[in-house]
Amino acid sequence: MSDKVLGAAIFGAGWVAGEHARAYQSCARTRLVAVGSRREESARNCAAYAGVPDAFITTDFDELLRHPDVDLVSITTPPDLHCDLTVRAARAGKHVCIEKPIALDWESCLLMQQAVREAGVKSVVAFVLHWNPSLLNTRSLLDRGAVGTPYYIEVDYWHGMKASYPQYSWAVTKEQGGSSLLSAGCHALDALRWFAGVDNDVTEVSAYAVPHRGDNTGWGYDPTTVLLCRFADGTLGKCASVLDCVMPYQFNINILGTQGTIRDNRVWSEELFPGQTGWTTIPTALPDSGDVAHHPFSGQMEAFAAAILDGTPCLPDLDDAVKTHEVIFAAERAAQTGSPVRLPLQRPA
Ligand SMILES: NC(=O)c1ccc[n+]([C@@H]2O[C@H](COP(=O)([O-])OP(=O)(O)OC[C@H]3O[C@@H](n4cnc5c(N)ncnc54)[C@H](OP(=O)(O)O)[C@@H]3O)[C@@H](O)[C@H]2O)c1
Repeated sequence: MSDKVLGAAIFGAGWVAGEHARAYQSCARTRLVAVGSRREESARNCAAYAGVPDAFITTDFDELLRHPDVDLVSITTPPDLHCDLTVRAARAGKHVCIEKPIALDWESCLLMQQAVREAGVKSVVAFVLHWNPSLLNTRSLLDRGAVGTPYYIEVDYWHGMKASYPQYSWAVTKEQGGSSLLSAGCHALDALRWFAGVDNDVTEVSAYAVPHRGDNTGWGYDPTTVLLCRFADGTLGKCASVLDCVMPYQFNINILGTQGTIRDNRVWSEELFPGQTGWTTIPTALPDSGDVAHHPFSGQMEAFAAAILDGTPCLPDLDDAVKTHEVIFAAERAAQTGSPVRLPLQRPA
């Protein structure tokens, strides 16, 4: 095991960047060395928030990449910039941590994938709920056969986007937010794919969308999209992404299998608990907040550092996230046309 400490940089010093910065500082194998942003003041504030006021500060991404102590870069700008920045970082030989959504169109996803593969750098995509304790329990229960073979899985992202969020002004626009699934529902779709098995590819998608029905608050896309998908092994998946709901944050997980069922942190398992007369509830930290300070970025950065330094697998990497985005672009086409879309989507020859 390498004892090197990786130098981390961040570009795009807004809301989520502060938590990336703090996570790099709390991880024993990474140190925050540089922060860049459009405005120098934002970069300075981010570095100070993480307790590294002497970090290298710049507004120039290429200067950030040239810094000799930078081994990896977190890309935390709005998503319309992710493709260009990822390609440039990979070509500069830097490992990349990319915020979700990775990009707003299919062609950009493929360009990023090609650049990262060609450069041979490591990647992780900030579907940070992979490190949420309750979701880790769920994946472990599935691995132990607690519910037998799953045949129906639903994961929903129901979170009313608040006007007070720093990202609100751009996240509700089509140009920078993209869509309900791209903007945030992708977390649920990522979890759905993870629970169905990351090699169990989606083969067909249907979807419907509903426009915002309240006062006009600037939505440039339909904030509610519901998708149904079929996986290669026949499992049925459902994901509802609702960004204008009026209720506290809710991340629903229901997994129905041949020998039991998981509902969030509740388990019914004929396999594990043959004498069970009621649901077993696992005390844990649920994914029950949209506040980035609540998100388990430390776990993500530990896994990313181990992937770079020890070569251990780290999911979701860019290849895995491209599959999640492929399902999203298929769902958007299905919602527009009213017809199911078969996967894989076309790739350039
Ligand atoms: N994984 C998660 O759970 C999670 C949670 C929240 C957000 N996110 C994702 O993280 C990303 C950022 O979201 P956020 O909420 O942090 O947004 P935000 O608060 O608006 O921060 C984005 C920052 O990017 C900077 N920026 C904008 N345009 C730029 C440009 N042209 N060049 C350089 N910097 C630029 C801005 O910096 P200045 O201040 O310098 O102008 C801004 O502070 C998005 O992709 C979002 O979907 C993920």
